[in-house]
Amino acid sequence: MPDLKIRGPQPRELIRRMKEYHPPLGDRSGLRLDFNENTVACSPRVVEVLAEISRSELTMYPERERVEELAAGHFNLKPSQVLLTNGVDEAIHVICQTYLGAGDEVLLPVPTYSMYAVYASATEAKLVEVPAGADFRFPLEALREAITPATKLIAIANPNSPTGQVVSRGALLKLIESAPHAIVLIDEAYFHFYGGTILDLVGRAPNVIVARTFSKAYGLAGLRLGLLGADDEAMRWLRRVISPYSVNSVALACLPAALDDRHYVENYVKEILTARAEFAAALEGMGVPFWPSEANFILVDIGMRHAEFCRAMRNRGVLVRDRSADPGCDGCVRITIGTPEQMHRAAAMMVEVLREIEWTGEEG
Ligand SMILES: Cc1ncc(COP(=O)(O)O)c(C=O)c1O
Repeated sequence: MPDLKIRGPQPRELIRRMKEYHPPLGDRSGLRLDFNENTVACSPRVVEVLAEISRSELTMYPERERVEELAAGHFNLKPSQVLLTNGVDEAIHVICQTYLGAGDEVLLPVPTYSMYAVYASATEAKLVEVPAGADFRFPLEALREAITPATKLIAIANPNSPTGQVVSRGALLKLIESAPHAIVLIDEAYFHFYGGTILDLVGRAPNVIVARTFSKAYGLAGLRLGLLGADDEAMRWLRRVISPYSVNSVALACLPAALDDRHYVENYVKEILTARAEFAAALEGMGVPFWPSEANFILVDIGMRHAEFCRAMRNRGVLVRDRSADPGCDGCVRITIGTPEQMHRAAAMMVEVLREIEWTGEEG
C-alpha cells in the first residue's frame, strides 16, 4: 500500500523548542557509579514478595489507596496527606501540570536536579534560575529576592544533586515563609544519607510538598516508586491530575516489605557513609578537589580533561557521570558512592586513570 500523504500534527510551540532529555543509559555493565542508585540490591524481603505474585493478580488494575494508608503510618502522616507516584519524576511532572500555567514563574537554584526544568519547560510557565553561591552554597537571599507575585513553584533538592550540598532547616523555613503563594517542593530523594527532613511541616505549611524516593537507599529504581507528603488541599489538586494507575501493582505489592525491612536500609546506609568518608580521604590523597557531600555521591573537579577522565574510567569498567554541562559545574564529574569495597576499587582505578591521562590538577 502506498504511504498516505498525511503530514502528522505538530506539537505545541513550546514542546518544539524543548530539547529531548537523554539520560546516558545504554550499556551499563561494570561498576555503576553514574546514577546514584543503590549499587548492590534491594531488600531480600522484596524479592520474596516478587516471587509470590500470582498470574491472576496481574490481571487487575492496581489499587494504591491501601498501600498509601500503610505508607502514611510509616511516615507519621494522614492517608489524605500521602500520594504514591511512579517515582519522584512523575511527582514533579504532576506538580508542574497541576500548578503551572501562562504567566507563572518557577524558581530553581542551580545547579540542581535536571527534571525540574524539563517538566516545567513543558508548561507555559517561565523558568527563573538562581545560581548557587561560592562552593555551591544555597543562594537563600538571592532566591528570596527573586520571588515575585508570579512565583508559583520553587523546587529544592535537599541534599542537592549534583553537588551533595544541603540547606539548613532555618533557611528552608525562611524561604517557605517568603513565598506563601507558591508551592515549595522539597525533594528529599537523598534523605537517608543526610538525616535532615522537613516532613513534619506537612499539614502545618499548606505550600510545602515533600518528596521521597525508593530509587536510592531502598534500591528500587527499576520499580519506579516515589511518595509525596503534602497538605490535604494540595493533595486534592494533585489527585485530579495523576493517572489513577501510574503506580503498578508489582510496585505496590513490594512497598510494604521494603518499608518494613528497616534493618536492610539502615545497614546499606551505614556502609555508604563509611565508604563516603573513605573515598573523600582517597580523593584528598590524589589531590583531586571535591565538595563535601551529604548524599550517596561526591562531585569532583577534574577540570578540562573531564570527558577523557570519564571515558578512561568507563574503559576500566567504572561508570561515572560527567556533569560539566550543568550550570557552574565546568569540569565536574559526579561519582556515586557504593560499598567500601566498591569504592576501594573505584579509587584504585581513578589513580590509574589520572596517571594515564597525565592529570596534574593544573589543567584548570
Ligand atoms: C534530587 C532527585 N530527585 C528525584 C530523582 C528521581 O527519583 P525517582 O527515581 O524516584 O524518579 C533523582 C534521581 O536521580 C534525584 O537526584
